[in-house]
Amino acid sequence: MNEHLPQHIAIIMDGNGRWASKRGISRLKGHAEGAETVRRTCEEMLKLGIPYLTLYAFSTENWKRAQEEVSGLFGLMKTYFRKELSNLLKQNIRVRFIGDHSPTSRLEPEILALMQEVTQKTAACTALTATFAINYGGQDEITRAVQSLAQQITVGQLKPHEITPDIISGALDTAGTPPPDLIIRTSGEQRLSNFLLWQAAYAELYFADVSWPDFQATHLQAALSAYTTRQRRFGAVPSTTAA
Ligand code: FPP
Repeated sequence: MNEHLPQHIAIIMDGNGRWASKRGISRLKGHAEGAETVRRTCEEMLKLGIPYLTLYAFSTENWKRAQEEVSGLFGLMKTYFRKELSNLLKQNIRVRFIGDHSPTSRLEPEILALMQEVTQKTAACTALTATFAINYGGQDEITRAVQSLAQQITVGQLKPHEITPDIISGALDTAGTPPPDLIIRTSGEQRLSNFLLWQAAYAELYFADVSWPDFQATHLQAALSAYTTRQRRFGAVPSTTAA
């Protein structure tokens, strides 16, 4: 393990639509090219030996997009996971999903079943944990966690004073995954857009001025170089600094 490298990179894959518009092609073609970048990025992570990758694929707010784009995006995701499953297993990649995947969510049963299948089939893989955030929003995740803790209090399994940051972390969709060390957002926008709000507390942020379909190994390397120059203090002062 290289201690100068982040152990967990999370990416806001932004700019597919603009990438497509510039080329006069449909937004969906931009997303399809973005799916290709997902595949390449997983390979880069394996080469670098970085064990955790989280990708923001569909937010709780993305339902506001045109129905054609939404169904096209889910069509792409279905094709991707069906086609990639054997490669993921060969590459020893474990896949997890975060977001609201309850039967009452807006996700159709077919995608819910596929996510369950991919999760189960790759559960024993160890080289990389790739987490896909689908129907995910940080505020929604925290709301569901609070509801579940409140429910435990109601039935007497938990007392209010027993709630700690660790208990909250354990009630989130990301339970069991370390928080991201580095969050990358492509396309030049500089905001979190409801991504990993709790988990991002001490993450380093890096904004790449390139659309997601154009994101290459060299851009990942640039983000990693920037990360290695950051001094992560987690609220403390450096040990050599006098009071
Ligand atoms: C943001 O770009 C991107 C998305 C909302 C979707 C991300 C999906 C993929 C990369 C493809 C499929 C994913 C998997 C898991 C295979 P945007 O559409 O907001 O771009 P814009 O800001 O330029 O319009």
